[in-house]
Amino acid sequence: MTTLKSGDKAAATTLVVGISSKKDSKGVATLVVETSGSKALSKLNEKQLLDALKKIGATGSADEVKRLPIGAGTTYTMIVTSGLGATQKRYEHEKLRRAAGAASRELGDIVSADFSLPHDDLATLAAIAEGVGLGAYNFIDFRGTSKAGQKKPLKDATLLTSLPVNAESKAALKRAEIISKNVHLTRDFINTPPSHLTPVTFSERMKKIASGLGLKVEILNESQLKAKGYGGITAVGQGSANPPRLLHISYSPARPKKRFAFVGKGITFDSGGLALKPAAGMEAMKSDMSGAAAVVAALFAIAELKLPVAVDAWAPLAENMVSDTATRPSDIITMYGGKTVEVLNPDAEGRLVLADAIVRATEVGKKAGGLDGLVNVATLTGAQVVALGTRTSAVMTNNEEFRKDLLAAADSSGELFWPMPLPEELRPSFDSPVADIANIGDRMGGMLVAGLFLKEFVEPEIPWCHLDIAGPAFNERAAHGYTPVGGTGVSVRTLLTLVEEAL
Ligand code: BES
Ligand code: MN
Ligand code: ZN
Repeated sequence: MTTLKSGDKAAATTLVVGISSKKDSKGVATLVVETSGSKALSKLNEKQLLDALKKIGATGSADEVKRLPIGAGTTYTMIVTSGLGATQKRYEHEKLRRAAGAASRELGDIVSADFSLPHDDLATLAAIAEGVGLGAYNFIDFRGTSKAGQKKPLKDATLLTSLPVNAESKAALKRAEIISKNVHLTRDFINTPPSHLTPVTFSERMKKIASGLGLKVEILNESQLKAKGYGGITAVGQGSANPPRLLHISYSPARPKKRFAFVGKGITFDSGGLALKPAAGMEAMKSDMSGAAAVVAALFAIAELKLPVAVDAWAPLAENMVSDTATRPSDIITMYGGKTVEVLNPDAEGRLVLADAIVRATEVGKKAGGLDGLVNVATLTGAQVVALGTRTSAVMTNNEEFRKDLLAAADSSGELFWPMPLPEELRPSFDSPVADIANIGDRMGGMLVAGLFLKEFVEPEIPWCHLDIAGPAFNERAAHGYTPVGGTGVSVRTLLTLVEEAL
């Protein structure tokens, strides 16, 4: 994890600055150096820097990072530029977060760097800090002989600023560190393959961290799940040699102002079960536990920040495999709480494990005095990716007010979420002739059908949001901004911010 500091004195020999591109009335573009305006840079020779950028054909567009072995009049020996796009008076937080992240992602072999990016308040500086922290990530756990050649992420970053260094600024940077650490944890879990991440190892590893934070942990094993009636988790997990688990971690500070439950889909590998997925692309299904990792990591961040809100994180964990013990199409299962489901498609497994956990989370929330909100996070449907692409997640709800809060939290944290409906007319499409409901319905609007299925297990008076992060959870394309290839950690920041903004 990168240590984040702020100050007005140069601390490293590498300096990161922003560059933007300004068009004149004739449409001719010129580059503009964008810094924090901190005193430490009074000697920065912008002309020398701009000449060098011109020579290498820099454009200042987003995600363009250039390393220049020049000091440009300062004590630095290398200047790194990160594109901010079109010149603006003020840059929105997410633009700065991404520019900072794109640079820190490229600084792999550098130990410490100073960042000078434009900002005029602490909130903006904090966004820059988050970008630096989020971008400084590399997953090398499974490198063997090639490990030595891997670049280590940036160790120390100093954010140059003319804002005062005080308790408030230190707290803001601490928060950025906590966010980065827990987003990195989420990414690590997602990137860890099912050979090394099973329901058992997932729950044990999270338990270890949770115990270190003084959190309460409960893990139900396969026989307890069966005995207590968790038919969904049991059915999905029964085809695998790696048995299922239900992981429950709670953070309950004294006199909490609110209480939330987070439920995350934890399929450590989704082969599709007897509705076996095609081989091409199946490897990405190691990411089918992204929701589970995100809700647990968000809870860790909330606990580390000691927020006065009680949160329960639930991770129903199973491996969806093919074998003679796997659930068959036409099998009928009894879910936690008693509803029966005809499993027409064993590849629609996420909703089954989630439904059990949602009912249990509701039960526990009620006993504790009632939930102010329940959020589930899941890589639930391919239809989500078709509808919204690979970078925007969907949010469905039974409560518009709660969704407004969630979208506001997403917006301030820089994560992309978009509202999707739960149209009642799709509900009868998963009627079953033999059970209470079936696990699949109309193929058209498949993301919404999955949402409607979950809604069957949510109590109408509890504000609920369902986040389908199927596309954004796992980046199979090129890295961009602070987002690496592989697990992204999406949702962690939105969940944390939702809790913070509920206060
Ligand atoms: N884990 C998948 C959804 C998914 C697809 C996540 C692509 C990320 C990328 C989920 O379990 C699944 O298989 N859903 C099916 C549901 C269908 C059988 C109703 C789907 O979307 O095809
Ligand atoms: Mn599936
Ligand atoms: Zn799945």
